[in-house]
Amino acid sequence: MSSDQAKTLRDLRQQADARRRTDQAETPSTRVIAITSGKGGVGKTNCVANLAVELSRRGRKVLILDADLGLANVDILLGLAPNGHLGDVLSGIREIDEIILHGPEGVDLLPAASGIAEVTALSEAQKARLKMALERLREGYDTLLVDTGAGISSNVIYFAGAAQDVVVVVTPEPTALADAYAVIKVLRNRRKVRRFQLLVNQVHQVSAAEAVHERLLRVAERFLDVEINLLGHIYADSAVQRAVMEQGPLVQLYPTAPAARCFAQIAQRLDMLPPPLRDGAVDRFWDHLLTAEGSS
Ligand SMILES: Nc1ncnc2c1ncn2[C@@H]1O[C@H](COP(=O)(O)OP(=O)(O)OP(=O)(O)O)[C@@H](O)[C@H]1O
Ligand SMILES: [Mg+2]
Repeated sequence: MSSDQAKTLRDLRQQADARRRTDQAETPSTRVIAITSGKGGVGKTNCVANLAVELSRRGRKVLILDADLGLANVDILLGLAPNGHLGDVLSGIREIDEIILHGPEGVDLLPAASGIAEVTALSEAQKARLKMALERLREGYDTLLVDTGAGISSNVIYFAGAAQDVVVVVTPEPTALADAYAVIKVLRNRRKVRRFQLLVNQVHQVSAAEAVHERLLRVAERFLDVEINLLGHIYADSAVQRAVMEQGPLVQLYPTAPAARCFAQIAQRLDMLPPPLRDGAVDRFWDHLLTAEGSS
Protein backbone atom coordinates (compact mmCIF):
# COMPACT_ATOMS: atom_id res chain seq x y z
CA MET A 1 0.00 0.00 0.00
CA SER A 2 1.38 3.44 -0.95
CA SER A 3 1.67 6.13 1.68
CA ASP A 4 -1.14 8.02 -0.10
CA GLN A 5 -3.41 4.98 0.12
CA ALA A 6 -2.51 4.49 3.78
CA LYS A 7 -3.35 8.12 4.47
CA THR A 8 -6.70 7.82 2.67
CA LEU A 9 -7.50 4.69 4.66
CA ARG A 10 -6.58 6.47 7.90
CA ASP A 11 -8.75 9.45 6.97
CA LEU A 12 -11.68 7.21 6.16
CA ARG A 13 -11.31 5.40 9.47
CA GLN A 14 -11.15 8.68 11.35
CA GLN A 15 -14.26 9.93 9.56
CA ALA A 16 -16.11 6.72 10.37
CA ASP A 17 -15.07 6.99 14.04
CA ALA A 18 -16.21 10.59 14.18
CA ARG A 19 -19.55 9.63 12.62
CA ARG A 20 -20.00 6.82 15.12
CA ARG A 21 -19.27 9.15 18.02
CA THR A 22 -21.81 11.69 16.72
CA ASP A 23 -24.41 8.97 16.21
CA GLN A 24 -23.90 7.75 19.74
CA ALA A 25 -24.12 11.26 21.16
CA GLU A 26 -27.27 11.97 19.17
CA THR A 27 -29.04 8.70 19.85
CA PRO A 28 -31.73 9.86 22.21
CA SER A 29 -32.46 7.62 25.15
CA THR A 30 -36.13 7.57 26.00
CA ARG A 31 -36.92 9.10 29.31
CA VAL A 32 -39.75 7.62 31.37
CA ILE A 33 -41.62 9.99 33.66
CA ALA A 34 -44.46 8.70 35.82
CA ILE A 35 -47.11 11.13 37.01
CA THR A 36 -48.69 9.83 40.16
CA SER A 37 -50.51 10.94 43.31
CA GLY A 38 -51.68 9.67 46.63
CA LYS A 39 -55.18 11.05 46.52
CA GLY A 40 -57.39 10.77 43.44
CA GLY A 41 -58.73 13.73 41.52
CA VAL A 42 -55.83 16.07 42.22
CA GLY A 43 -55.16 16.76 38.53
CA LYS A 44 -52.73 14.08 37.28
CA THR A 45 -54.40 13.43 33.98
CA ASN A 46 -54.58 17.15 33.25
CA CYS A 47 -50.91 17.43 34.03
CA VAL A 48 -50.03 14.51 31.76
CA ALA A 49 -52.01 15.90 28.82
CA ASN A 50 -50.73 19.46 29.13
CA LEU A 51 -47.13 18.58 29.93
CA ALA A 52 -47.09 16.23 26.96
CA VAL A 53 -48.08 19.07 24.64
CA GLU A 54 -45.58 21.46 26.23
CA LEU A 55 -42.75 18.93 25.98
CA SER A 56 -43.71 18.32 22.38
CA ARG A 57 -43.48 22.07 21.75
CA ARG A 58 -39.98 21.91 23.17
CA GLY A 59 -39.04 19.44 20.48
CA ARG A 60 -39.60 16.19 22.36
CA LYS A 61 -41.33 13.27 20.73
CA VAL A 62 -43.77 12.27 23.42
CA LEU A 63 -45.77 9.12 23.97
CA ILE A 64 -48.33 9.05 26.77
CA LEU A 65 -48.96 5.68 28.37
CA ASP A 66 -52.37 5.69 30.02
CA ALA A 67 -51.85 3.22 32.80
CA ASP A 68 -54.68 4.32 35.06
CA LEU A 69 -56.63 1.10 35.32
CA GLY A 70 -59.50 2.56 37.25
CA LEU A 71 -60.27 5.69 35.32
CA ALA A 72 -58.27 5.80 32.13
CA ASN A 73 -59.20 9.06 30.53
CA VAL A 74 -56.26 10.78 28.87
CA ASP A 75 -57.98 10.00 25.57
CA ILE A 76 -61.04 11.99 26.61
CA LEU A 77 -58.96 14.97 27.67
CA LEU A 78 -57.20 14.95 24.32
CA GLY A 79 -60.44 14.47 22.40
CA LEU A 80 -59.38 11.05 21.08
CA ALA A 81 -61.33 7.81 20.66
CA PRO A 82 -59.31 4.62 21.30
CA ASN A 83 -59.78 1.75 18.90
CA GLY A 84 -58.05 -0.85 21.03
CA HIS A 85 -55.58 -1.32 23.86
CA LEU A 86 -52.53 -3.37 24.75
CA GLY A 87 -54.69 -6.36 25.63
CA ASP A 88 -55.71 -6.51 21.98
CA VAL A 89 -52.05 -6.60 20.97
CA LEU A 90 -51.47 -9.52 23.32
CA SER A 91 -54.37 -11.47 22.03
CA GLY A 92 -53.21 -10.82 18.48
CA ILE A 93 -56.28 -8.83 17.41
CA ARG A 94 -54.24 -5.71 16.70
CA GLU A 95 -50.72 -4.55 16.00
CA ILE A 96 -49.30 -2.00 18.40
CA ASP A 97 -49.12 0.71 15.71
CA GLU A 98 -52.83 0.30 15.16
CA ILE A 99 -53.79 1.21 18.69
CA ILE A 100 -51.54 4.26 19.04
CA LEU A 101 -53.59 7.43 18.83
CA HIS A 102 -52.22 10.63 17.33
CA GLY A 103 -53.16 13.59 19.47
CA PRO A 104 -52.68 17.32 19.33
CA GLU A 105 -49.32 18.85 18.47
CA GLY A 106 -47.56 15.59 17.72
CA VAL A 107 -48.38 13.90 21.05
CA ASP A 108 -49.13 10.19 20.77
CA LEU A 109 -51.14 8.10 23.20
CA LEU A 110 -50.97 4.41 24.01
CA PRO A 111 -54.26 3.51 25.68
CA ALA A 112 -52.73 0.70 27.64
CA ALA A 113 -54.97 0.67 30.64
CA SER A 114 -57.19 -2.34 30.33
CA GLY A 115 -54.53 -4.40 28.60
CA ILE A 116 -51.76 -3.79 31.10
CA ALA A 117 -53.93 -5.10 33.93
CA GLU A 118 -52.91 -8.54 32.84
CA VAL A 119 -49.16 -7.99 32.65
CA THR A 120 -48.41 -9.78 35.89
CA ALA A 121 -50.33 -12.79 34.70
CA LEU A 122 -48.79 -13.03 31.24
CA SER A 123 -47.14 -16.15 29.94
CA GLU A 124 -43.47 -15.97 28.96
CA ALA A 125 -44.40 -16.06 25.28
CA GLN A 126 -46.85 -13.21 25.72
CA LYS A 127 -44.30 -11.16 27.63
CA ALA A 128 -41.79 -11.67 24.86
CA ARG A 129 -44.37 -10.61 22.31
CA LEU A 130 -45.30 -7.50 24.24
CA LYS A 131 -41.69 -6.58 24.77
CA MET A 132 -40.94 -6.90 21.08
CA ALA A 133 -43.90 -4.69 20.21
CA LEU A 134 -42.84 -2.08 22.76
CA GLU A 135 -39.21 -2.21 21.68
CA ARG A 136 -40.28 -1.27 18.19
CA LEU A 137 -42.31 1.57 19.57
CA ARG A 138 -39.72 3.21 21.71
CA GLU A 139 -37.46 3.93 18.81
CA GLY A 140 -39.77 6.73 17.78
CA TYR A 141 -40.04 8.52 21.16
CA ASP A 142 -37.68 10.31 23.49
CA THR A 143 -40.15 10.92 26.31
CA LEU A 144 -42.68 8.54 27.78
CA LEU A 145 -45.20 10.09 30.18
CA VAL A 146 -47.08 7.57 32.28
CA ASP A 147 -50.42 8.40 33.93
CA THR A 148 -50.39 5.89 36.76
CA GLY A 149 -53.63 6.59 38.52
CA ALA A 150 -53.81 7.39 42.23
CA GLY A 151 -53.02 5.62 45.47
CA ILE A 152 -50.82 2.82 46.65
CA SER A 153 -52.42 0.02 44.70
CA SER A 154 -49.96 -2.45 43.26
CA ASN A 155 -50.55 -1.07 39.78
CA VAL A 156 -49.53 2.46 40.68
CA ILE A 157 -46.48 1.27 42.55
CA TYR A 158 -45.64 -1.03 39.68
CA PHE A 159 -45.61 1.71 37.04
CA ALA A 160 -44.15 4.51 39.13
CA GLY A 161 -41.52 2.13 40.50
CA ALA A 162 -40.36 1.27 37.00
CA ALA A 163 -40.03 4.88 35.78
CA GLN A 164 -36.89 6.98 35.98
CA ASP A 165 -38.57 10.07 37.32
CA VAL A 166 -41.62 10.20 39.53
CA VAL A 167 -43.75 13.33 39.62
CA VAL A 168 -46.11 13.40 42.60
CA VAL A 169 -49.10 15.66 42.11
CA VAL A 170 -50.62 17.09 45.24
CA THR A 171 -53.02 19.88 46.21
CA PRO A 172 -52.70 22.03 49.32
CA GLU A 173 -55.43 19.97 51.08
CA PRO A 174 -54.10 18.15 54.16
CA THR A 175 -55.60 14.86 52.96
CA ALA A 176 -53.79 15.10 49.61
CA LEU A 177 -50.54 15.77 51.45
CA ALA A 178 -50.95 12.80 53.76
CA ASP A 179 -51.72 10.54 50.82
CA ALA A 180 -48.70 11.88 48.89
CA TYR A 181 -46.52 10.99 51.86
CA ALA A 182 -47.96 7.47 51.83
CA VAL A 183 -47.21 6.96 48.15
CA ILE A 184 -43.66 8.31 48.54
CA LYS A 185 -43.10 6.01 51.48
CA VAL A 186 -44.27 2.94 49.62
CA LEU A 187 -42.22 3.80 46.53
CA ARG A 188 -39.15 4.39 48.68
CA ASN A 189 -39.52 1.25 50.71
CA ARG A 190 -40.74 -1.18 48.12
CA ARG A 191 -39.20 0.12 44.91
CA LYS A 192 -36.17 2.07 46.18
CA VAL A 193 -37.25 5.31 44.51
CA ARG A 194 -35.15 8.05 46.07
CA ARG A 195 -35.96 11.15 44.11
CA PHE A 196 -39.40 12.71 43.69
CA GLN A 197 -40.64 15.76 41.84
CA LEU A 198 -43.46 17.54 43.62
CA LEU A 199 -46.10 19.33 41.61
CA VAL A 200 -48.54 21.37 43.66
CA ASN A 201 -51.79 21.84 41.77
CA GLN A 202 -54.69 24.18 42.39
CA VAL A 203 -52.85 26.83 44.35
CA HIS A 204 -53.92 30.45 44.64
CA GLN A 205 -50.43 31.71 45.25
CA VAL A 206 -46.88 30.46 44.87
CA SER A 207 -46.27 30.55 48.60
CA ALA A 208 -48.91 27.82 49.06
CA ALA A 209 -46.80 25.46 46.93
CA GLU A 210 -43.69 26.29 48.93
CA ALA A 211 -45.56 25.64 52.18
CA VAL A 212 -46.76 22.23 50.95
CA HIS A 213 -43.23 21.36 49.88
CA GLU A 214 -41.80 22.34 53.26
CA ARG A 215 -44.40 20.34 55.15
CA LEU A 216 -43.69 17.28 53.08
CA LEU A 217 -39.94 17.72 53.42
CA ARG A 218 -40.22 17.94 57.18
CA VAL A 219 -41.76 14.49 57.46
CA ALA A 220 -40.56 12.66 54.38
CA GLU A 221 -36.90 13.62 54.31
CA ARG A 222 -36.55 13.02 58.00
CA PHE A 223 -38.06 9.57 58.06
CA LEU A 224 -37.54 8.26 54.59
CA ASP A 225 -34.16 9.38 53.26
CA VAL A 226 -35.56 10.71 50.00
CA GLU A 227 -35.02 13.79 47.89
CA ILE A 228 -38.13 15.81 47.10
CA ASN A 229 -37.76 18.67 44.65
CA LEU A 230 -40.42 21.27 44.12
CA LEU A 231 -41.02 20.97 40.39
CA GLY A 232 -43.58 23.74 40.37
CA HIS A 233 -47.10 24.92 41.00
CA ILE A 234 -50.24 25.21 38.93
CA TYR A 235 -52.79 27.86 39.69
CA ALA A 236 -56.39 26.96 40.40
CA ASP A 237 -57.89 28.26 37.20
CA SER A 238 -61.40 27.95 35.78
CA ALA A 239 -59.86 27.68 32.30
CA VAL A 240 -58.72 24.15 33.27
CA GLN A 241 -62.34 23.05 33.69
CA ARG A 242 -63.36 24.82 30.49
CA ALA A 243 -60.64 22.96 28.57
CA VAL A 244 -61.80 19.65 30.11
CA MET A 245 -65.35 20.36 28.94
CA GLU A 246 -64.05 21.15 25.47
CA GLN A 247 -61.91 18.01 25.45
CA GLY A 248 -58.71 19.72 24.47
CA PRO A 249 -55.44 20.53 26.25
CA LEU A 250 -55.57 23.78 28.20
CA VAL A 251 -52.23 24.91 26.80
CA GLN A 252 -53.68 24.72 23.32
CA LEU A 253 -57.17 26.11 23.96
CA TYR A 254 -56.26 28.80 26.49
CA PRO A 255 -52.52 29.37 26.15
CA THR A 256 -52.55 32.64 28.05
CA ALA A 257 -54.51 31.30 31.06
CA PRO A 258 -52.48 31.43 34.30
CA ALA A 259 -52.46 27.62 34.65
CA ALA A 260 -51.29 27.22 31.04
CA ARG A 261 -48.26 29.40 31.72
CA CYS A 262 -47.46 27.20 34.71
CA PHE A 263 -47.39 24.10 32.50
CA ALA A 264 -44.91 25.75 30.15
CA GLN A 265 -42.59 26.49 33.07
CA ILE A 266 -42.92 22.99 34.50
CA ALA A 267 -42.17 21.38 31.15
CA GLN A 268 -39.02 23.47 30.92
CA ARG A 269 -37.90 22.32 34.37
CA LEU A 270 -38.72 18.70 33.61
CA ASP A 271 -36.65 18.97 30.48
CA MET A 272 -33.69 20.24 32.45
CA LEU A 273 -33.78 17.71 35.28
CA PRO A 274 -30.46 16.00 35.89
CA PRO A 275 -30.32 12.28 35.13
CA PRO A 276 -32.23 10.15 37.61
CA LEU A 277 -30.51 8.78 40.69
CA ARG A 278 -31.39 5.27 39.72
CA ASP A 279 -29.81 3.77 36.66
CA GLY A 280 -31.87 2.85 33.75
CA ALA A 281 -33.15 3.67 30.36
CA VAL A 282 -36.51 2.93 28.94
CA ASP A 283 -35.66 -0.68 28.22
CA ARG A 284 -35.23 -1.11 31.95
CA PHE A 285 -38.72 0.28 32.32
CA TRP A 286 -40.11 -2.38 30.06
CA ASP A 287 -37.95 -4.99 31.74
CA HIS A 288 -39.31 -3.96 35.11
CA LEU A 289 -42.82 -4.15 33.80
CA LEU A 290 -42.39 -7.47 32.17
CA THR A 291 -40.50 -9.36 34.80
CA ALA A 292 -41.72 -10.78 38.06
CA GLU A 293 -39.41 -8.39 39.86
CA GLY A 294 -41.33 -5.48 38.37
CA SER A 295 -44.60 -6.67 39.74
CA SER A 296 -43.55 -6.95 43.35
N1 LIG B 1 -55.37 23.75 38.20
C1 LIG B 1 -56.67 23.45 38.22
N2 LIG B 1 -57.60 24.43 38.34
C2 LIG B 1 -58.91 24.13 38.36
N3 LIG B 1 -59.42 22.90 38.24
C3 LIG B 1 -58.56 21.88 38.12
C4 LIG B 1 -57.14 22.09 38.09
N4 LIG B 1 -56.53 20.89 37.95
C5 LIG B 1 -57.53 19.98 37.89
N5 LIG B 1 -58.73 20.56 38.00
C6 LIG B 1 -60.06 19.90 38.01
O1 LIG B 1 -59.94 18.65 38.65
C7 LIG B 1 -60.53 17.64 37.85
C8 LIG B 1 -59.74 16.36 38.05
O2 LIG B 1 -58.53 16.44 37.35
P1 LIG B 1 -57.83 15.13 36.77
O3 LIG B 1 -58.82 14.26 36.10
O4 LIG B 1 -56.65 15.57 36.00
O5 LIG B 1 -57.39 14.46 38.15
P2 LIG B 1 -56.70 13.03 38.36
O6 LIG B 1 -55.73 13.22 39.45
O7 LIG B 1 -56.22 12.51 37.08
O8 LIG B 1 -57.95 12.20 38.86
P3 LIG B 1 -58.02 10.59 39.03
O9 LIG B 1 -57.25 10.27 40.28
O10 LIG B 1 -59.48 10.34 39.17
O11 LIG B 1 -57.41 9.98 37.80
C9 LIG B 1 -60.49 18.19 36.44
O12 LIG B 1 -61.52 17.69 35.65
C10 LIG B 1 -60.59 19.65 36.61
O13 LIG B 1 -61.95 20.01 36.58
MG1 LIG C 1 -56.69 10.68 36.08
